[in-house]
Amino acid sequence: MNVTELFDHVSGTSRVERITIRRPDDFHVHLRDGAMLEAVLPFTAAQFVRGVIMPNLVPPVTSVAMARGYRERILKARPDGSDFQPLMTCYLTDAADRDEIERGFRDGVWVAAKLYPAGATTNAHFGVTDIPALAPVFERMETIGMPVLIHGESTDPDVDIFDREAAFMEQSLLPLLKRHPGLKIVIEHVTTAETADIVRAHVSRAAGTITPHHLVINRSSIFQGGLRPHLYCLPVAKRERHRLALRKAATSGEPCFFIGTDTAPHRRTAKEAECCSAGIFGGATALQTYLQVFDEECALDRFEAFASVNGARFYGLELNGGTITLERRESPVLAAVAVEDTEVVVFQGGQTLPWSVGEVTR
Ligand code: DOR
Ligand code: ZN
Repeated sequence: MNVTELFDHVSGTSRVERITIRRPDDFHVHLRDGAMLEAVLPFTAAQFVRGVIMPNLVPPVTSVAMARGYRERILKARPDGSDFQPLMTCYLTDAADRDEIERGFRDGVWVAAKLYPAGATTNAHFGVTDIPALAPVFERMETIGMPVLIHGESTDPDVDIFDREAAFMEQSLLPLLKRHPGLKIVIEHVTTAETADIVRAHVSRAAGTITPHHLVINRSSIFQGGLRPHLYCLPVAKRERHRLALRKAATSGEPCFFIGTDTAPHRRTAKEAECCSAGIFGGATALQTYLQVFDEECALDRFEAFASVNGARFYGLELNGGTITLERRESPVLAAVAVEDTEVVVFQGGQTLPWSVGEVTR
């Protein structure tokens, strides 16, 4: 990591103007398919070398053949000259076949399996209804060292939406950790202080991804001046104390926390609707947003670990070569990305952000 500081004679202090880090990865990406894939992939590919690709298509990516096909479509949709590498995942259902899961892992087709509790979020209706019943699959994954990536929210309709993550942790995650002491687990998009502590308590085999949006919005932001559909995602943003705890976790340098943007594009028509789809398209502004948080938390020296080291180590991947530079240079962010006859609204789009992405070297 390389930092350029400038001394400001007026304030008598120096501040970082430019930061160059090893190229980063995004361990939680929704790229969709077809026209949407074509529209959003360039943004992720411009910032990240590798992306862990979520399998919640319709139908979901449940077989090795489907993952191979999806991987090919992603590679084909890359902008000219892009070296972006999709790391595929398998969608767990009640019918998950441990032999198929092992085959895809051993053949290098997928790096992990994604566990959605049935109905928990977008396209999760094919998900798992009975987590303990998947024990044979988890045992196999334990044996082969394949991580399970968990959307940690209770699907009990009687549980308040803001308590769904906490309920899942108590009722499902802690028991799962106990039943499978060798299972590698990523708790995706951590949104509470308590979940961050659970990750820390199982650091030898658990990790947590943290999104850019959960570092900058809290649950009141969703209702700021009116209902803001483009800030609605799942897990929904929580109280301010949780946002502050997430900022501490992300910027702490602890090896169990790393980037997973959960960039989740939906058409404007699906967001500004009677029933708004869950998901925030953060892919276009991810590094700028994360870096602003690290800057505000006086933790720029720990940015590279969060962005480019911790996740790769957890997954057992080589660290990327090459660098990306971010500069303290205000630039306006595009408001939306066109997709067919509509568009996808960009998280923090239309605003001016203090950090801009500069040169990438390979
Ligand atoms: O807000 C979300 N959107 N949360 C998820 O877990 C899924 C995602 C999507 O696919 O749109
Ligand atoms: Zn997601």
